[in-house]
Amino acid sequence: MRKIYIFDTTLRDGEQSPGVNLNTEEKVEIALQLERLKVDRIEAGFPAASPGDSAAVQAVAGAVRNSTIIGLSRSRMQDIDAAWEALKGAQDPCLHLFLASSPIHRKYKLKMEKHQVLETAEAAIRYARQFFSKVEFSPEDAGRTELDFLCEVTDMAIRAGATVVNIPDTVGYLYPAEFGNIFKTLKENVPGIEKIQLSAHCHDDLGMATANALAAILNGADQIEGTVNGIGERAGNTAIEEVAMALNTRQDFFQAKTGLQLDEIARTSRLVSKLTGMVVPGNKAIVGANAFAHESGIHQDGMLKEKTTYEIISPETIGLKESKLVLGKHSGRHAFREKLIDLGYDLAEDALNAAFAKFKDLADKKKEVGDEDIRALLDEKLVSI
Ligand code: KIV
Ligand code: ZN
Repeated sequence: MRKIYIFDTTLRDGEQSPGVNLNTEEKVEIALQLERLKVDRIEAGFPAASPGDSAAVQAVAGAVRNSTIIGLSRSRMQDIDAAWEALKGAQDPCLHLFLASSPIHRKYKLKMEKHQVLETAEAAIRYARQFFSKVEFSPEDAGRTELDFLCEVTDMAIRAGATVVNIPDTVGYLYPAEFGNIFKTLKENVPGIEKIQLSAHCHDDLGMATANALAAILNGADQIEGTVNGIGERAGNTAIEEVAMALNTRQDFFQAKTGLQLDEIARTSRLVSKLTGMVVPGNKAIVGANAFAHESGIHQDGMLKEKTTYEIISPETIGLKESKLVLGKHSGRHAFREKLIDLGYDLAEDALNAAFAKFKDLADKKKEVGDEDIRALLDEKLVSI
């Protein structure tokens, strides 16, 4: 089974979510939980961005012992110096350098020709390797970069000493088959590619970040970058819990797995949501409140007979106690009877039928019927118990 490394960027790309600002204490608290989740690599911030971010990266570097700690840096000497200052106390420091490579970024943002991109990145990687034994290089907007130029950039990065080359679909533009093809092309055409790790960094602008990450794995990616709950710039990044659970649930297909401590997923999700203030949508895969909740009578009946009828993951795997059968207008007698037993009511058949009729009337008026509603309904003495 191939191991897929997880590079968590909740504290860097995740913090780039509009409205999110984590202080040092909060970053350390999240980093320690990421360490418990057994994330391989933690991108703690962008030290040159502000003195506050530099201090936070330094604090994370001092607190975490079992995950590699990474700082982001533009391909500039001052940024690299700032990153080294923040990261030198880490048990296992790594620098993440980036420079855009796509025609759009070269023309409008950098005003650089291809050869200038190659020279600038090469000088930065070589400079960084004087301090860091691990350097990851990202050609930003790789997803919209000419494939032959991306091969040239990757070749340059390997020769200059990068230990990981990361392929970002910076604007979430690609379709899985296209993104997978980039990895296949790099693997087949770049000499020395087997000496480094290839990484995928996807954004979710078209809702394909997880699918693209999985396509990268199928085509040889060693590392996936992402965030907890998929938070990040614009529509966010690949959600690491989705990748971990897709690999775990479909090991038969992917033949690969992460080293994550899966039963820490729910707790990590709750902590990140609380400290970032970013509410997890109820229907979010894996960690949404409804991910293990069943409302329809047919589904509830199936669940009560055999859970795998409607659940491909058991809630315990991600650290939750149990699935929820939510009582609403679609619920059936089977789930209703189970709920009554849970609440301590043992009704004869006629009383059960009468109570069920009352419950259906109420369910038509309310989205969800809670335990208190059911107790009230039975205590109305509208049904004889
Ligand atoms: O999305 C992106 O391109 C990035 C880079 C800095 C890797 O976040
Ligand atoms: Zn990004």
